[in-house]
Amino acid sequence: MRPAPRSLLLSAALLAFAAGVPEARTADTLATLAGGRSAGPLALTHGGVGSGPELADGPRAAADTALKVLLAGGSSLDAATAGTVHLENDPRFNAGTGANIRLDGKTIQMDAAVMTGAGRFAAVGVIERVRNPVLVARAVMDSTPHLFLAGEGATRFAHRIGFADVVPTCPEAEAKYRARMKRLGELYARTDTTIYDWRRYWNFPNPMPADVLDWGKHGDTVGTVARDASGRFAATLSTGGTSVTLYGRVGDVPVYGCGLYAGPAGAVACTGEGEEIIKRFMAHAVYEKLAHGVSARRAVEEAVRAFPERFDLGLIAVGREGWGVAGR
Ligand code: GLY
Repeated sequence: MRPAPRSLLLSAALLAFAAGVPEARTADTLATLAGGRSAGPLALTHGGVGSGPELADGPRAAADTALKVLLAGGSSLDAATAGTVHLENDPRFNAGTGANIRLDGKTIQMDAAVMTGAGRFAAVGVIERVRNPVLVARAVMDSTPHLFLAGEGATRFAHRIGFADVVPTCPEAEAKYRARMKRLGELYARTDTTIYDWRRYWNFPNPMPADVLDWGKHGDTVGTVARDASGRFAATLSTGGTSVTLYGRVGDVPVYGCGLYAGPAGAVACTGEGEEIIKRFMAHAVYEKLAHGVSARRAVEEAVRAFPERFDLGLIAVGREGWGVAGR
């Protein structure tokens, strides 16, 4: 008899959920550390570092959605895609409908990626005017010879194959934008701190709003890793990126080996400071540990402990023997 879908809250700090696992151990010195041995279909989702515990039902439902796909005989890629689509459609998270609005108060540029344990990878970067970037990444994988489409080319491709031409915003994203602008205005007004002056290299197609700006704490990325009944792995990620950036900034999510990675030994997905994740080839580095027999729990724990404390990082991973979640 198949097990009923089940989700476990792993941490409020990372806001990650596991579905299809027998146990969860929450730990000690890291804000988030959990994992264990598990066989059979399994899905893990995260709602990004910076998402508060009041949003816990989002990744929980996404994990259940992914697990249901697996229990119905779906592939790990179908399950990982379904989990991330669920979170892209939830306006409380920084991806798809809830994607961060950039400094000009108008631009929304999103990144997404998908990868299978068989080595298939595809991504879109700084795509605009689509509701579900992860589905566009999937279409790049299924319908083109390319690995990565970016910018207007990615947007045009999406519309060409039937994705609706919509700006995926919502009142929640607009409220977050206004709060960040207020906070940045306060920071610029201070004399006891130095912050990067984003106004200096303004490259948006739209003029600079009068009340430009800040960097408040906010949700980062959403993602799913899955292992199906045949032991195949997949990972998916989607993000609205960081709010306070220049136009055209690309984070870790669509960069090969950085935001996510999957292979025959497992699947890994990151959330956190994109530039720092890229410098460390983070997802591939964690995957290498899995490939060398390290448990998923220990692999994510070691990677988070080795990351500079001043930057956010969250990791979810599933391997042949089990699963792991770690973050700070
Ligand atoms: N981790 C998402 C980003 O930096 O864009």
